[in-house]
Amino acid sequence: MATLQTHLGIELPVIQAPMAGVQAGALAVAVSNAGGLGSLPCAMLNVDAMRKELAQIKAQTARPFNVNFFCHVAPVPSAEREAAWRAALARYYEEFGIDAAAIPAGPGRAPFSSAYADALEEFRPAVVSFHFGLPPAALFARVRAWGSQIFASATTVAEARWLEAHGVDAVIAQGLEAGGHRGIFLTDDLTTQVGTFALLPQIVRAVKLPVIAAGGIADAQGVAAAMALGAAGVQIGTAYLLCPEATTSAVHRAALKSEAACHTALTNLFTGRPARGIVNRIMRELGPLSAAAPAFPLATAGIGPLRANAESRGSGDFSPLWSGQNAGGCREIPAAELTRELAAGF
Ligand SMILES: Cc1cc2nc3c(=O)[nH]c(=O)nc-3n(C[C@H](O)[C@H](O)[C@H](O)COP(=O)(O)O)c2cc1C
Repeated sequence: MATLQTHLGIELPVIQAPMAGVQAGALAVAVSNAGGLGSLPCAMLNVDAMRKELAQIKAQTARPFNVNFFCHVAPVPSAEREAAWRAALARYYEEFGIDAAAIPAGPGRAPFSSAYADALEEFRPAVVSFHFGLPPAALFARVRAWGSQIFASATTVAEARWLEAHGVDAVIAQGLEAGGHRGIFLTDDLTTQVGTFALLPQIVRAVKLPVIAAGGIADAQGVAAAMALGAAGVQIGTAYLLCPEATTSAVHRAALKSEAACHTALTNLFTGRPARGIVNRIMRELGPLSAAAPAFPLATAGIGPLRANAESRGSGDFSPLWSGQNAGGCREIPAAELTRELAAGF
C-alpha cells in the first residue's frame, strides 16, 4: 500500500486538515514547507478571496498543497423552517436586544462550482479534497483533467466504496471523534457513524485506494497507531487550532485550553449539518441537535448576530467551538514544529 509520501512525493505522512473559518493560507504554507501537506479550506472564501490566498501560497511554497471544498447541494429555503428557527432563537434575540427581522438570510458556506474551478485551474494544486461527497461529474472531470489528485472524506464503509467507484485517488476515513463537520453524505442517519479505529481498518479492507485516517489523532503515537492499522497517512485538524498560524478566535482558543474541551458533541445548530464542537450554552439549552435548524448551510444566518454579540463580550456561548474529541494534542507552537512532532518516526 502506497504511503502518502510515495503517493504525493512529500516527506511526512501528515495532512493538515482543511478547517474553514479558522485558517487561511499561512497554516498551509507552514505545514507544506515542513514536509507535510498543508490545506486551504475554501467553503467560506469567495472566488476572489480564494485566488488571493492561492497566489500567496504559491509565492511562499513550491511544495504540494491541498485545496478543499464542500460539495453540498444548495438547499431550497423553507420559510416555515426559517420561522421555526427564529422562534427557537427568539429568547436570545430578546436577551441581547437584537431585532430578528433585521437579520439577513445568508448562504454561510458555498459548494464547489464552475466559478471556483475556473480560478483553481490557474493554480492546479497537487491535491483537491472534497467534503460531503463529490461535486457533479462535469466538475469532477475538470479537476481530473488538469491533473490534481482528488481526495474525499468517507464516514462509513459504504461511502468509501462509493468514492472509489466514482474515481477518487484516496479516501479520508473520518472517524466519529473528528472535529468540525461530519463528511457524511450517503445517509442522514448518525447511528451509522463510527470511531476512527473501527472505521479505518474496515475501509482499508474495502477499497484498493490509499486511506488517510482522520479523527482524534493528536500526537506521534496516534499517528503510529493509524499507520499500524493500514493508513497511508493521517489528516489532523484539532491539534493545529492553537498554532500561531491558525486564525482561531480568542474565545475558541480559550475553550480549547480549558476543561470544557473534554466535552464535545455533534451539533447542527450552527450550520444545519452535524459538526463536532465543544459543548457551550446554546448547545446545552437547545440540545445539540435540533429539528428546527434550517438545512445546511442556512442555519448559519440566524445565529450569526448572537455569536457576534457574545464574542464582543468575550463569550463563546453562541460560537461554533469546533473541536475533535481529543484536544489534548493542541499546542501553542509553530505549525512546522507540530507537524514534525506528529510525524516523528516516519
Ligand atoms: C475547526 C475545524 C474546521 C473544519 N473544517 C473543515 C473543512 O472546511 N473541510 C473539511 O474537509 N474538513 C473540515 N474539518 C474536518 C477535518 O477535515 C478533519 O476531519 C478533522 O479535523 C479530523 O479530526 P481531528 O479534528 O480530531 O483531528 C474541520 C475540522 C475542524 C476541527
